[in-house]
Amino acid sequence: MNWRKLRTFVLTVLVLCLIPAMRYNQIDVPLLHYFAGSREVDPLSLHLAGEFVENNLGTQQDADGSVTVRMIAQQYLFVPHCILVPAGVPIHLRITSADAVHALAVNGTGYNVKVLPGTIRETQLQFSTPGEYKTMCREFCGAGHYAMRSEVKVVPRDQFPALQPGERGNCAAE
Ligand code: CUA
Repeated sequence: MNWRKLRTFVLTVLVLCLIPAMRYNQIDVPLLHYFAGSREVDPLSLHLAGEFVENNLGTQQDADGSVTVRMIAQQYLFVPHCILVPAGVPIHLRITSADAVHALAVNGTGYNVKVLPGTIRETQLQFSTPGEYKTMCREFCGAGHYAMRSEVKVVPRDQFPALQPGERGNCAAE
């Protein structure tokens, strides 16, 4: 084998290794999770019991000031449809899917969270400036995929209201 061929071969192998490596968090982690059989939540009873019942969805401010957001991705919407969060505060996102594989992407940011039914994806978001961010599904999930959108409203930290239980799930508290 001459050197040029060897070099081409090595470069090809490197590039082929790089592609899945770059997608590790989006593809491999959820898939490994899924095939390992860790069913953290039952996608069929999300609305009936457990962490993802309706009145537990949306933004929750904990006693220590940290913020947790719980969402469900389902064909073809995100629940809640609009969430209100404070700027400059780490936001713990917990999201699961009720049916297919979806991916919550926040426009104008690098956030792209892939979510599989039966598993809870946990990640941290932070918005440095107030504003309205459109979100969309970035994983083809069926006929209504292109209409699967929602919104994040980021308000200044000092204007973030003390949310009442009934106000967690939408932007009406603003
Ligand atoms: Cu959900 Cu595409």
